[in-house]
Amino acid sequence: MESIRVFNLCKTYGKKDERIQVHALKNVTLSLETNKIYAIMGHSGSGKSTLMHILGLLDRPSSGQYFLNNRDVAKLSDRQQAHIRNREVGFVFQAYNLLPRYSVYKNVEMPLTYSQVSSADRKKRINKLLEQVGLGHRVHHKPNELSGGERQRVAIARALIMNPTVILADEPTGNLDTKTEKEIMTLLSDLKDESRTIVLVTHEMEIAEYADSIIKIRDGEVME
Ligand SMILES: Nc1ncnc2c1ncn2[C@@H]1O[C@H](COP(=O)(O)OP(=O)(O)O)[C@@H](O)[C@H]1O
Ligand SMILES: [Mg+2]
Repeated sequence: MESIRVFNLCKTYGKKDERIQVHALKNVTLSLETNKIYAIMGHSGSGKSTLMHILGLLDRPSSGQYFLNNRDVAKLSDRQQAHIRNREVGFVFQAYNLLPRYSVYKNVEMPLTYSQVSSADRKKRINKLLEQVGLGHRVHHKPNELSGGERQRVAIARALIMNPTVILADEPTGNLDTKTEKEIMTLLSDLKDESRTIVLVTHEMEIAEYADSIIKIRDGEVME
């Protein structure tokens, strides 16, 4: 089943009359399916993060179409986009991006803040996810009391709490050693079986081997 379709997506940074214009994405056309992992590969500056930001509704394309779960999302208002982002997209970052003053539990709960989910249901969902990522024994720890791999597991649990259809991970193992990298990739691989689409950015071939499909991008163009 198709979850993401982009057609002729372009992203240009800088104003029209400026000489410093950057064409970060040029006519990118892609169709991504559920139950699959995609690895986006390309040199630094090739447009990988720009594409991830647009897919995650964190940024808008300059032109082109974007359908997320068959819904035309490119022209929705900021508020509508924020709503869909919260429901449909889970993010995992290289630097984990956890809130340092909050417990593991609170970090995972964060995306539920403005939802109607009761506190009893929250508790059930959070504890179940923390078990799933192997952190059932670290619920009350703070991020700085955890290893890098454990922090990334917290970030993955947080990404899953709204049960999103799409997981976007920008170099999720960039800060991890080889052994931990394998553990995190195994965890991410298992998620595709839950009817999700996983898109990850990597420049390591070992990581790309976990993917069903590799998207090669060069100077803003998809080479395939
Ligand atoms: N906010 C921005 N303003 C201007 N140029 C940007 C901005 N973000 C990225 N770029 C430029 O767009 C190109 C693609 O960047 P990016 O998507 O971050 O590449 P990657 O993630 O593949 O390293 C680069 O040339 C970068 O300098
Ligand atoms: Mg990048």
